[in-house]
Amino acid sequence: MPLLQWDQAFLVGVDKIDADHRVLVELINELHEQLKHSAPRTGIINRFAELYSHVTKHFAHEEAIMRSRNYDQYEVHQADHQSLLDEITTIMCDWEGNSGVNSEATTKRLYDWFSQHFQTHDARLHKLREFVE
Ligand SMILES: [Fe+2]
Ligand SMILES: [Fe+2]
Repeated sequence: MPLLQWDQAFLVGVDKIDADHRVLVELINELHEQLKHSAPRTGIINRFAELYSHVTKHFAHEEAIMRSRNYDQYEVHQADHQSLLDEITTIMCDWEGNSGVNSEATTKRLYDWFSQHFQTHDARLHKLREFVE
């Protein structure tokens, strides 16, 4: 069973954003499976890199939307994005350095962060867009 079940509650009502969010969920689940089954090191490093790349592109897209709309919660939303990027970087460095990363805790942390972020910061941002587009 996947770690992070897609939930209707994650939907923000903008197709491109919901599709991006689904990809992020799938990548976390794939990473979770690889870590759990001690997959080859190269595969795990590649999966982390793939996740990081998708996350940075998605965040850049949302931040451009916020700037173009003078969004009132830009700073707090962007700070939440940055905190996750910093955290993923730390996890990747710890893992590459073999400093005892707990794979369950790692993917659970990503799960918690995304499910919260989708339903709070992203829900507010994208639901507001319905009224202006
Ligand atoms: Fe966001
Ligand atoms: Fe998002």
